[in-house]
Amino acid sequence: MLIFYYFINYDKIIWVIIMKSILVTGGMGYIGSHTVVELIEKNYDVIIVDDLSNSSIEVLNRINKITGKTPKFYELNCCNYDAFKKVFMENKIDGVIHFAGFKAVGEGEKLPLKYYDNNLISFINLLKLMDEFKTNNLVFSSSATVYGQPDTNPIKEDFPFRVCNTYGRTKLMIEDIIRDYAKANKWFNAAILRYFNPIGAHPSGLIGEDPNGIPNNLAPYISQVAVGKLEKLGIFGNDYDTTDGTGVRDYIHVCDLAYGHVKVFDKLFTNSGLVTYNLGTGKGNSVFDVLHAFEKACGFKIPYEIKPRRAGDVAIYYASPEKAYKELGFKTKYDILDMAKDSWNWQKKNPNGYKK
Ligand code: WQD
Repeated sequence: MLIFYYFINYDKIIWVIIMKSILVTGGMGYIGSHTVVELIEKNYDVIIVDDLSNSSIEVLNRINKITGKTPKFYELNCCNYDAFKKVFMENKIDGVIHFAGFKAVGEGEKLPLKYYDNNLISFINLLKLMDEFKTNNLVFSSSATVYGQPDTNPIKEDFPFRVCNTYGRTKLMIEDIIRDYAKANKWFNAAILRYFNPIGAHPSGLIGEDPNGIPNNLAPYISQVAVGKLEKLGIFGNDYDTTDGTGVRDYIHVCDLAYGHVKVFDKLFTNSGLVTYNLGTGKGNSVFDVLHAFEKACGFKIPYEIKPRRAGDVAIYYASPEKAYKELGFKTKYDILDMAKDSWNWQKKNPNGYKK
């Protein structure tokens, strides 16, 4: 975002361009890196903090290839307060997008203490530093997981919280901290963004989803089967009460999601206080819908087998996107075929992700 100031100096006007700077924690990750690209393209100055535990330094080169710019990068874990404080001491920060955190639902069930320690301490450190350095604008990467299994769909922002896993509880606890802090500090502006299922990749194929080990999520699993890294897709249950018996989700293109993160700063910079939005398409797609979209994208059949339901899965959930549209003018642009094409384009160009 460019802010222009001018001042008269010896009877001539000198225009000064002031770029707003945004700190992106976890900016080397899947959603983070796509958001960094969007921020740079909207003329923000970007600083990235990331411990590279779930990403690669190669992402910096890819961001440069796409935008022609290399954001300032600090390799650190946000739980390291002293190292994190240096970032605030060395940079003027107008806003923060907080992505950093562990996000594997299954792992969270096995290692709850690791998830509470990492996700909560890193956020509390961030908020303490924003408080100390009077950085007043925060976008928090929350999740639709906080809704658990809703009674009905589409899901609105005022639906009850029914979080049913450790990962989701860390997201809800952070949301509660933000709500309490915003109530006590009227000058503080925060946007809580609850995503549904981000998939897809930047159309250049230079950045994309590169999960550690065997993917837990549907789209990266399918694209790794398509590229020959995995043998076949296991479909977790085809006996749900849905059109074809498989689970239904609201898949949103990661570039739409990135755009939503940047768009919400327009609102925060007007001193909005605390706002909360679901970011989704408002459309549900089944596992077979996604599989068939990928087959259309890659041009061949993708093998699968039906397996038992996965513990903790819900049958259907998808977003009501009305509030983000009404208050932000946010509307998704891409459909499920676009998402599959961009995922496949990334995967076939990078069969081993960012690893050489
Ligand atoms: C989607 C559908 C599965 C894999 C998770 C997190 C959530 C959010 C998004 C962070 C379901 C089916 C999946 C596979 C399958 N992450 N599936 N075979 O579980 O909706 O949400 O990611 O915020 O917090 O819970 O996404 O992609 O794992 O599953 O059949 O190998 O695909 O049963 O119906 P999910 P998913």
